[in-house]
Amino acid sequence: MSASSMRQNFLRFDKLFKAECRLCHTGKRGPNVLITGGLGQLGTGLARELRARHGAETVILSDIIKPEESEIANGPFIFADVLDFKCLQEIVVNKRIDWIVHFSALLSAVGENNVPLAVRVNIEGLHNVMELSKQYKLKLFVPSTIGAFGPESPRNPTPNLCIQRPKTIYGVSKVHAELLGEYYNKRFNLDFRCLRFPGIISYDSHPGGGTTDYAVQIFHDAITTGKHHCYLRPDTRLPMMYIDDCLRSTIEFMLAPTDKLSTRTYNVHAMSFTPEELFNEVRKWVPELEIEYNPDARQKIADTWPMVFDDSIARQDWGWKPSIPLDSLVEIMITNLRRLYKEKEKA
Ligand SMILES: NC(=O)c1ccc[n+]([C@@H]2O[C@H](COP(=O)([O-])OP(=O)(O)OC[C@H]3O[C@@H](n4cnc5c(N)ncnc54)[C@H](O)[C@@H]3O)[C@@H](O)[C@H]2O)c1
Repeated sequence: MSASSMRQNFLRFDKLFKAECRLCHTGKRGPNVLITGGLGQLGTGLARELRARHGAETVILSDIIKPEESEIANGPFIFADVLDFKCLQEIVVNKRIDWIVHFSALLSAVGENNVPLAVRVNIEGLHNVMELSKQYKLKLFVPSTIGAFGPESPRNPTPNLCIQRPKTIYGVSKVHAELLGEYYNKRFNLDFRCLRFPGIISYDSHPGGGTTDYAVQIFHDAITTGKHHCYLRPDTRLPMMYIDDCLRSTIEFMLAPTDKLSTRTYNVHAMSFTPEELFNEVRKWVPELEIEYNPDARQKIADTWPMVFDDSIARQDWGWKPSIPLDSLVEIMITNLRRLYKEKEKA
């Protein structure tokens, strides 16, 4: 991104944040944010972005796993199991929370391997944060996914509103979240906001067991072993996004004025590629990289998911626009992972 568009983005956020401050309880500060499941792939990056704009203390990361030193160095962390209503309630009250960003979930591949736990975390956990958000009038963000669609949905492109019959417990739980959130919005005026993310790619946090994880692993393999074993067929087209666009979409959407939202659940898109297309891009940086395709159970899941996401409603309503295309994503991943692996070697 150019310096001038970064500055434009910053000014836009700044203006929206000031408007949000006026809506918070004190009328002076920005929102206090609780991130559940915050130590996964997306949480620490979002905390970093929000803290940079509004101060370290305003964002509380929470999870049930033990944080690394680096993850708690820049702001508060609290143990919080989303299945424990009282524990969440105590944090909301004591820390005067204004927004919950609900990231806790079992992702698609992990969820299929433990359906009862996925039902508990993805559905019961959601009920807890939704009820709390209603009681304490919080703004609630819940991400959904390309996995909320199924084989009966149009796949290229997949519109914002169409038939959704997902075939994984992950997808079923996310459709449940979308519908319940929209219901609470209409019935109780809950400020529920939901973005359907594509597969997210990042170099400084690890994916948590989804069907799109290969698109991160291939970069690590390119730099370490020089050989990638891909669990999808070479022609499996899926929507993907670099993490910076994902985090920016979340913040812009949370700050979007209510009167701009024609719905509460939006597709967001950035790019779409197959393993073969990604492999060819990575080879421009690592020509010796080899790939072997051994499709496993995740192929079945990917075959029912969107190939291209239609995000025209998000663009139209609140101005969503991705900024990182495939070639830039590959450059960012390779250069940063090379640096990180070199630093690890030296340490
Ligand atoms: N990463 C992606 O590609 C992607 C794509 C679409 C949607 N999403 C959604 O974004 C959200 C965040 O994704 P992520 O990639 O960071 O996931 P992740 O799997 O990396 O992290 C999820 C976190 O939830 C925590 N968790 C599990 N059980 C919990 C419980 N009982 N209480 C509290 N925390 C618990 C885990 O410890 C983990 O740190 C998820 O809801 C996911 O469905 C992610």
